[in-house]
Parts: sequence; structure tokens; C-alpha cells
Amino acid sequence: TRIKRVLSGVQPTGSLHLGNYLGAIRQWVEFQDNAETQDEEGNLIRTENFFCVVDLHAITMPHDPTELTESTLSSAALYLAAGIDPSKSRVFVQSHVTAHAELTWLLNCITPMNWLERMIQFKEKARKQGESVGVGLFDYPVLMAADILLYQADQIPVGEDQRQHLELARDISRRFHDLFCKGNKYKKLCKAAGVPSRPVFVEPNAMIVKSGARIMSLSDGNSKMSKSDPNDASRINILDPPDVIREKIKKCKTDAQVGLEWDNPDRPEATNLLTIFQAVQPGRTREDILNEVGDMTWGQFKPVLADAIVNHLEPIQERYKAIREDDEYLWQVLKDGADAADEIASRTLKHAKIAMGF
Ligand code: ADP
Ligand code: NA
Repeated sequence: TRIKRVLSGVQPTGSLHLGNYLGAIRQWVEFQDNAETQDEEGNLIRTENFFCVVDLHAITMPHDPTELTESTLSSAALYLAAGIDPSKSRVFVQSHVTAHAELTWLLNCITPMNWLERMIQFKEKARKQGESVGVGLFDYPVLMAADILLYQADQIPVGEDQRQHLELARDISRRFHDLFCKGNKYKKLCKAAGVPSRPVFVEPNAMIVKSGARIMSLSDGNSKMSKSDPNDASRINILDPPDVIREKIKKCKTDAQVGLEWDNPDRPEATNLLTIFQAVQPGRTREDILNEVGDMTWGQFKPVLADAIVNHLEPIQERYKAIREDDEYLWQVLKDGADAADEIASRTLKHAKIAMGF
């Protein structure tokens, strides 16, 4: 049996929304439930899934300490409520495993500045932040490289927006091996430390996953639904009560045309709302959906859509509530997850430190 490790995470900044759920967390549940697969030769591959709440990433933008605590617990509880099963997958908080921060420092010292200066996301976020932009925001991709490299994961599920960060993790891993693991030096250091001289990192590859639905903002068809949009009405939060969901859908941006259709570039709102409608009713085809709602006016469709979202989120919200009423259980899940993560992460860190001469 070959063991494959997959690490995924969402930042605990604000409330998780339909985009995070449909585009990420719901896919994780699928990974978890398909953890056993076979390779071409019929060998069993078992995937160990690590689902992380990446709180160290969340502080790269200005943040409120009380909100960070709440948002971290709430995100973890939502992973569980959405179907992540701690008996099958590991759920943990990034800052609970200190190797993330420690490896980041080691990697910082071998990463050329200009590799980070090229990162598109930094340029975009920094522009919004102006003068007060922190070093942490610049360094974010190195922390992400540490996240990936610590778990010896060879395949990383990434969306298009994260591809450049994954390439950087590969480059850093290669540079580390070139600098410290060539020739006999590393072998001797390992021998002196009494550990096998295995490669420090596994070079990660992008895993091409069937992309989850990309959900767009409810108030502007051209930008994605996001936590960082200051307008709360632009997104459906997973924990929004039914009346709030109905109100947001009622007010969301539409066009002046009658009837609904997919993929008309002039009608991004129609595509987006149909996509949401389909995604919250797993198993339904586009055809089936158009038969039901294709001829409706927006005024007729909106309450139908709102009902479908409310119905889909209701059981998740109920499970969430039950989990949050039992903090002891949640902390235990996070502790078990952190212990399991730490076992793997600290082994990698140890090899990295030996290779560098610590
Ligand atoms: P946000 O933009 O809300 O801060 P993140 O950047 O933290 O979200 O993304 C966390 C995960 O959720 C990523 O896997 C990302 O691909 C997914 N995701 C975020 N927003 C959307 C969206 N609007 N549609 C689909 N997936 C999304
Ligand atoms: Na984001």
C-alpha cells in the first residue's frame, strides 16, 4: 500500500461562505470518502487527508485577536459540520503545529527575494493595503511552501490562483536539496544524528482536480464571492439564517431579461445563480434544472433558489450548532489532529535542521 498525503486549508478570516463550501470544503469531503484508490498497476493507494485551519496565514492582513479565535474554532466546526469526519481525516489548526513557523524561518533564509517579488497575489493584495503592508504578507508563499513540504505530500490539490505558489514550493524544495543535500555531507550529518538519510522534502506536484464550482459575488458578476469583500450582501455565509439568505437572494444583482440560461457571456448573473442552484442540489443535471426554472422571471426564480440554498444549508447549520455546544469535543478533535500532524511535520523539520547544520 502506498500512502499519499493531501493537505488542504482555508483561512479563518470572517465567515466561511458558499464559495468556500462549494469550491473547497465539499470537495474535501469527496477526497475523504474516496481515500482508497488504485494506481495503473492495481496497487492500493491510501490517501491521508489533512484539513488545516490556516490561522498563521490569516494574520498576514490586519486582524482582530478575538475574531481570530472565534473564526478559527468556527471554521474547524464547519469542516466537521460539512462532513469532514475526524475518524477518517485529520483536522487541525496550523499554529498548533509549531513546525510550520519554524520551517518557514529556515526556508526564508534560502529563498531569494526576487522569487517572492514575482508573486502576483502579493502585488494585488499589497496594492490594496498601501504603506502598511507587512513583511508577513510578502512572506506568505514561503509559509505555504512550509505547509506543503512538511507533510511530504507529493500531490497538492490547487486552484488556478494557487498554481504559482505551488511552483514556488517546488523551487524552494529543489534549492534546499541543491544547497544542503548533494554529495556526502548530508549523509554524514544524518549518520552522526542517528537518523536515516532520506531526502528532506518530496517535490510536490499540482493535482489536477475537477474544479469545484467557482461562485461569483452576488453584487458584482465579475468578482468571485470572497470573505474579503467588505459588502456582506455580496456573499451567502454558510451560517446565515434563512431569512438573511432569502433577503440577500432577493436583492442580488440580476439583469432585465426574462428567462434563465447558462454560459451567456452577457449574463454572468444567470450563469452564477444557476450554478449555485445546481450545486446545492447534487445529482441534478443542467437540463433537468432548465426544465424546471428556465422560463421563469427573476422574481419567480429567486424564492425557489433561496429555498434550495436554505434546505441544503439547514442540516449543516444544525450539526454546526451541536458541535459548538460541545467545545470539549471540538478541542479534542483539534488536539488529536495536531498530534497526528506534528508527528509527520516534526520528522521533516528534524531532517531539514540536520541538513542545515543544527
Ligand atoms: P476567500 O477569497 O473567501 O478569502 P480563500 O482565498 O481563503 O477564500 O480560499 C479558500 C478556499 O476556498 C480555496 O480553496 C478557494 O479556491 C476556495 N474559494 C474561495 N472563494 C471561492 C469562490 N468564490 N468560488 C469557489 N471557490 C472558492
Ligand atoms: Na482570499
